[in-house]
Amino acid sequence: MQASLFGTLSPREFMRRHWQKRPLFVRRAVPGFAGVIDKRALAALALRDDVESRIVERRGRRWQTAHGPFEKIRIKRTNWTLLVSGVNLQVRAADELLRRFSFVPQARLDDVMVSYAAPGGGVGPHVDSYDVFLLQGPGRRRWRVLDKKYVCEPGDLLYLPPGVEHDGVALEECYTYSIGFRAPRGAELAAAFLDWLHERGLPDARYRDPGLAPVLHPARLPQEMIRFAFRILRRIRFSKGDVADFLGRYLSAPKPQVVFRRSAGTGAWVELDPKTQILYAGARFFINGEPVSVPQPRLLRELADRRALDAARLAPLAELVAEWQRAGYLHYTKKRRDG
Ligand code: SIN
Ligand code: CO
Repeated sequence: MQASLFGTLSPREFMRRHWQKRPLFVRRAVPGFAGVIDKRALAALALRDDVESRIVERRGRRWQTAHGPFEKIRIKRTNWTLLVSGVNLQVRAADELLRRFSFVPQARLDDVMVSYAAPGGGVGPHVDSYDVFLLQGPGRRRWRVLDKKYVCEPGDLLYLPPGVEHDGVALEECYTYSIGFRAPRGAELAAAFLDWLHERGLPDARYRDPGLAPVLHPARLPQEMIRFAFRILRRIRFSKGDVADFLGRYLSAPKPQVVFRRSAGTGAWVELDPKTQILYAGARFFINGEPVSVPQPRLLRELADRRALDAARLAPLAELVAEWQRAGYLHYTKKRRDG
């Protein structure tokens, strides 16, 4: 069991007092945190078209943003920052960092963004729409959060609920790890749900009007047609189970740029690929946007929650495991990683 990230606060107390409510600063939340990636490797990720990245340069009180993928990156010495999103999908240790926040449901976890900043660098004052943990990597950064100031050193952690203005300026070359969350918006869910309903099949009937009489006002919408549309649309029904099915697929679906690569080999331990998302609701399972039914829900729940399991224990799910290995959704490894 790892120590609480919140010093003397337990995750339960943190959630009750701070989550979605108020900022928290924790000195040495991850003692000795040395980061998981350096600027060269970060710059190499920002050249790839399956990775989201941006460069922000400050000129006085103005910030200029350029979006990746970049053809070439020249790391500047001042007032410059490179930010790479989804580093957890590319670097195993960043995924492990994300999983340290597993006291929050996976459906709420988004990604680990890593920024490298030269002295004076930062993205400028802003608010974010989602909760974020800012974990300081190597180097120091000064944060202004509302009217408070914090100088973050390696391993210090700053939690910000949505909508709290903040501004981080690198005091020297430094790295910041943003553990970000997601929360679906109503309109976004509704639009995606309507697509799902469409895919599932909509009520159908042909409009007929054998009793139609000649009209005096040809531009007028026929009452009968309005009644027909109302009758048909009223037949669109859905249950809570349908909504759970939709939500599981929707939230477990990989981001558009994600690609899985076929995996092979064998080992004593099975680990989900960092890009794999398994969610469940009761006996319904969803892996990377697809529903699955299994004869052994308890076992699959354990794999989904822990993201790794002793290969021998997965024997009852052998066929599924083989299929998911071919799809690159999981991998065999020799031995269990710590953690
Ligand atoms: C940064 O790492 O510079 C920006 C992170 C943030 O403010 O959300
Ligand atoms: Co921010």
